[in-house]
Parts: sequence; C-alpha cells; structure tokens
Amino acid sequence: MEIKKVLVVGAGTMGHSIAQVYATAGIEVNLIDINEDSLNRAMILIKSNLNTLAEFERVKKNEISNILNRINPSTNLKDAAQGVDLVVEAVSEVPDLKEKVFSQLDEFCSENTILASNTSSLDIFKIVKVKKPERLVIQHWFAPPHIIPLVEIVAGRKTSKDTVELSVKLIERLGKKPVVLKKYIDSFIVNRIQNAISGVVFELLLRRIATPEMIDVAIKHSLGIRLPIVGVVQTMDFTGLDLISDITKSKGIEISLIKNRVDQGHLGAKTSKGFYDYGNMSEEEILRKRDRQYLKILSHLEKIDAFEPI
Ligand SMILES: NC(=O)c1ccc[n+]([C@@H]2O[C@H](COP(=O)([O-])OP(=O)(O)OC[C@H]3O[C@@H](n4cnc5c(N)ncnc54)[C@H](O)[C@@H]3O)[C@@H](O)[C@H]2O)c1
Repeated sequence: MEIKKVLVVGAGTMGHSIAQVYATAGIEVNLIDINEDSLNRAMILIKSNLNTLAEFERVKKNEISNILNRINPSTNLKDAAQGVDLVVEAVSEVPDLKEKVFSQLDEFCSENTILASNTSSLDIFKIVKVKKPERLVIQHWFAPPHIIPLVEIVAGRKTSKDTVELSVKLIERLGKKPVVLKKYIDSFIVNRIQNAISGVVFELLLRRIATPEMIDVAIKHSLGIRLPIVGVVQTMDFTGLDLISDITKSKGIEISLIKNRVDQGHLGAKTSKGFYDYGNMSEEEILRKRDRQYLKILSHLEKIDAFEPI
C-alpha cells in the first residue's frame, strides 16, 4: 500500500510541522483543526520553518511554494477524511478528546486507512475503539518534527505486522529514523529516559544543590558532548562495566545485565566487548575512534557557541 494522501488532525506545535514533513516528501496533506486561528498560525509557521530549512539547504527555495500548495488547511474533518491513506492524530493530550476524534475518524475514513496517534503518554490502544484495530498504531514524533529525525513506532496488542512495517517504510521515505519498540511501555523510550532525568533535575533544584543554569552548564559540558557519539548504553562500555558493577554493588544493588557480562570478562572497550561487540579492534583503536568523534563534536559546539544558553 502506497501512502499518497495524509490527514493530520490538530495543527498545533506538532501537527503543523508533521504536515510540513509529509508535504516536503511530495505527499498531499489535509490539515485539520477545530480552531481557524490555529490553522492560520500553522501555515505561517510552516512557511517560516521552510525558509529556515532553505537557509541550511535542507529544502530548495524554489520548492517552498509547491510544498505549501500540497497542504490543504480546513476545519471540516468529514470532508478532509475522504480518500486519505493515513491519519496522523496530533490533538491535545486529553483522553476523552482522543477517544472522540478517533471515533469520528472511524466513521469518516475508509476501513483501510491507517490510523496513527502522536500521543506522548496515553495508552491509545485502551482509550480508542475503532473497527479493524490492526490498523491503529502510535507514531511518536519529536519536536520540532521538521528537524528531529526520530519517530518511535509503538504497536498495540492488536496492531498488525503490516501496519508496523508500513509505518517503518513510510517514516524512512520521509527521511526520518523509525525505531520500533519490541512491546508497549508507558512513555516509550525517549520520554521515559527524559522523565527520569527530569525527576532528578527537580530533586536537585528543590534541594537547592544547584541553580538551573549550573545544571545546564554541567550537562552541556559533559553528557552533551558524549551523548551524540555513545548514546546512553554504549557510554557504559567506556566507563567500564566492572566499575559500574562496583558502584552499584556499593549501593546494595546488583544488575544482572552488568553482572553477567562482568562474570564473562566482557568489561566494555577495554576487553573489546561489553554491551557492544567491537570485533577485532584493539582498545587503543576503539578509544582513538571515539576520541576523534568527540573532538569533532567539541570543535563544532565551540564554533557555534553552543555552550551559551539560547
Ligand atoms: N509538544 C511536543 O513537544 C510533543 C512531542 C511529541 C508528541 N506530542 C503529542 O502531540 C499531540 C499534540 O501536542 P501539541 O503539543 O501539538 O498540542 P497543541 O496544543 O500545540 O496542539 C493541539 C491542537 O489540536 C487542536 N484540536 C483540539 N481538539 C481538536 C479536534 N477535536 N479536532 C481537531 N483539532 C483539535 C487544537 O486546536 C490545537 O491546535 C499530543 O498528543 C502530545 O502529547 C507533543
């Protein structure tokens, strides 16, 4: 099934930009909102976003008017739902509202239309009732969608493999990066990790351990340089899984994922195997490869004054 026409419901922070990404990929988009002002604002923002992307040669300046022409803003959901292959729901994060919108979509769209929700935190599969639930899926974007590549794809128990595969191919066709969760979990991958970070930030602030500015300075000058290269898992291979084991043990915690690796002598970069397998690379080669990447990032961040607040 080829996606030729898409309906985006909700033209706010996420919806306007998701519509823009689809239109940029050459796909016709009906963009719906209950609020006429939201639609007007959305079209102004899309034009402005496209001009910013053109400055960085991410879209061609002479394509902007064609992209805009592919987006049809409207407040009439019933008409906009006709003949669409996919719906992306991006209305406010209110369960009753999502339920209502999906029941309207179920009524107005063809039974073969893929129904995707951009929810960040709701178990849409429990809230929403639609005919043929195998076509219901979460496609979770990150703000701003016209820049951030990741789209998390989350299936419910009844979502079909075909719907997941189609979602993956579609997101790739848009030039974005799909990651399919192996099973449903609240807040998915990124927000779950982000929520854990936020919890600690609130604690540090409430206990007056540091000011907001101090926390951001600390993070930007450390994790900010490492994260783009080693993520949050591979970074442990460089810390050394033996050290992590000692630290967690001293706090009375044993993590089987770490213990099993340490018991087998897989300590990370220093033994060429940890969470990742570095094949035949020596420790020296692994560290040099990492350090070259770190230095490229560091030089670039310094060049663009990234250590100053926005
Ligand atoms: N803001 C983010 O960073 C972010 C990131 C990922 C996912 N999300 C998710 O995306 C969804 C939208 O979030 P947002 O930040 O864009 O919200 P928003 O408040 O900016 O936009 C929501 C839009 O939905 C419209 N709307 C409300 N009821 C409607 C209806 N019945 N029909 C059509 N339009 C309706 C509103 O008028 C508004 O323009 C939420 O589920 C949110 O959790 C948000």
